[in-house]
Amino acid sequence: MILINKDMCMKCQACVKDCVVKVLTTGADGFPEVKEDDGRYCLNCQHCMAICPVGAVECNGVSAAQAKALGALPPPETMMNLVAQRRSIRQFKDEDVPQETLLKLLESLAWTPTGCNVHNLTFTVVSHRSEMDFFRSEMNKSLRFLINSGLLRLAYPKFQRYMGEVLRGEDVIFRNAPHVIVAASPKNAPCKEADPWIALSYFDLVAQTYGIGTCWSGFAVHALNWIGKLRKRLGLPKGYRVGAVLLFGLPAVTYHRQTSPKQFEIRIL
Ligand SMILES: Cc1cc2nc3c(=O)[nH]c(=O)nc-3n(C[C@H](O)[C@H](O)[C@H](O)COP(=O)(O)O)c2cc1C
Repeated sequence: MILINKDMCMKCQACVKDCVVKVLTTGADGFPEVKEDDGRYCLNCQHCMAICPVGAVECNGVSAAQAKALGALPPPETMMNLVAQRRSIRQFKDEDVPQETLLKLLESLAWTPTGCNVHNLTFTVVSHRSEMDFFRSEMNKSLRFLINSGLLRLAYPKFQRYMGEVLRGEDVIFRNAPHVIVAASPKNAPCKEADPWIALSYFDLVAQTYGIGTCWSGFAVHALNWIGKLRKRLGLPKGYRVGAVLLFGLPAVTYHRQTSPKQFEIRIL
């Protein structure tokens, strides 16, 4: 529900102009209003609350008074360094990330944009190495079974080399990481493929600023969706599928310079 405080509202229409679903319109008295029945189209993006210069709008229980003030942003060069200096970490220290750092990192997830602002992603975080050991050993056991049965060779013929590593007991999927975060989306979400990756990309970048190393695991996305016992352990709600997986922990390696990746083909029209 959107509430306008008419004692504060200056009738500037900023909220009306910025409402993507046009739930807010200008009433006969010049104040913004939500027509009867239109409220159900509200995406709860809270733009109306955030854009109001005088804080006169409350959106679905969130008032301007409750909202956090804007903070400083990193300058462009720092942000570019963050992007360029993030490396996929595959060598981790054998220690847990402090829980308070982890909780701080998880805060970033709330702001991830999702298609149509359907805010129903779900995340599972393995926060202790002991739990990770369970995932690692079950993963290896299940993969060995799938490899030995010939099923995996049939489904993923290009990954023969990795299969040899799995059979030698190497942790190809979780890279010996102390932690993993799994993002899952409901099968019927409008952007079910994109949302989990975007959410964990936010987490990924914020993680770097805390000195936490990360590595995407496309393998784990497939494997976790394949292996029933691990899927169950993730505790996903019914109808959800694993969409993206990010490994993380304290890095055991340091990179001394940036890489120089080949630029992509870019067309500027
Ligand atoms: C969608 C996606 C899936 C990936 N899956 C894996 C994976 O399963 N295992 C792995 O070790 N690295 C994985 N990576 C990491 C890439 O190999 C890595 O980003 C690339 O080699 C470039 O290295 P950099 O991230 O250090 O720049 C994945 C990356 C992306 C974006």
